[in-house]
Amino acid sequence: MNHFLDIHTTAPSDLRAMIDKAAEMKAARDGLPKGTPDAEQPLANHMVALIFEKPSTRTRVSFDVGVRQMGGQTMVLSGADMQLGHGETIADTARVLSRYVDMIMIRTFEEQTLMEMAEYASVPVINGLTDRTHPCQIMADILTFEEHRGPIKGKKVVWSGDGNNVFASFAHAAGQFGFNLTFTGPPTLDPSARVLDEARAVGAEITIERDPFKAVEGADLVVTDTWVSMHDPQSARERRHNQLRPYQVNENLMAMARPDALFMHCLPAHRDDEATSAVMDGPHSVVFDEAENRLHAQKAVMRWCLGV
Ligand code: CP
Ligand code: NVA
Repeated sequence: MNHFLDIHTTAPSDLRAMIDKAAEMKAARDGLPKGTPDAEQPLANHMVALIFEKPSTRTRVSFDVGVRQMGGQTMVLSGADMQLGHGETIADTARVLSRYVDMIMIRTFEEQTLMEMAEYASVPVINGLTDRTHPCQIMADILTFEEHRGPIKGKKVVWSGDGNNVFASFAHAAGQFGFNLTFTGPPTLDPSARVLDEARAVGAEITIERDPFKAVEGADLVVTDTWVSMHDPQSARERRHNQLRPYQVNENLMAMARPDALFMHCLPAHRDDEATSAVMDGPHSVVFDEAENRLHAQKAVMRWCLGV
């Protein structure tokens, strides 16, 4: 049994195997209606709890569909409706859920909640996003890059905007998958020193460049995300918008990247804030492939967790 908690704490060979498995499983069901069961049913007789303490469209639907395609069953739980939201400890919740279900996916606020869940659960726990990281997203993003452009190793990836949870998992992945990562954004929204240390400890090469146009030169992939994340106070909205406006991904910025550069955004997007519609819907964009690949990547993650 394996927990899938973060990219930098998962062995590179396991990450590689999951991406390859995801590509293989995706190809095997090409063109089939979404409800068609996979030929192999590795999750038959398995029950999976999907816990959400924050909103979600992609994570919720892709995990649910993925479990069903592999023959398992799901229950989608809202943290607020559980005793977890009313004072029961995470440790007790983890021990109780482990008596009912075979795997737990949780989207939460504090990283500590995820870590305690993993410590006390006797079944695999998957990180469906915390304030600090979003590893499932980056597994889908690697799968997406590689299906369009081949191996990501040695490529130049540029993140423009807030040094947030999605950036953190990109930073971890830079080390584990061997791509070069440049962060461009205002100093007030830099990634944390902890994230940079963790990434560099697994071999990541990360450059910080304040000028977005310089940063994007020669990029194979340009990535951004919302300027205000779910865990950020709404009171910070105006200040963040003012600080991040120079880092908007628009056609002028994309023109500085390689002509065949890809554009990614984990979604949900705030069109014409962090990225213009011209870029979101333009020739570089693979944002809907990324969304689809959440399904395929997470199916491979779940198989790895259960060893099936
Ligand atoms: N990208 C992502 O995790 O989307 P949701 O918030 O809709 O799950
Ligand atoms: N950074 C965003 C990602 C949403 C999928 C957030 O945490 O709200």
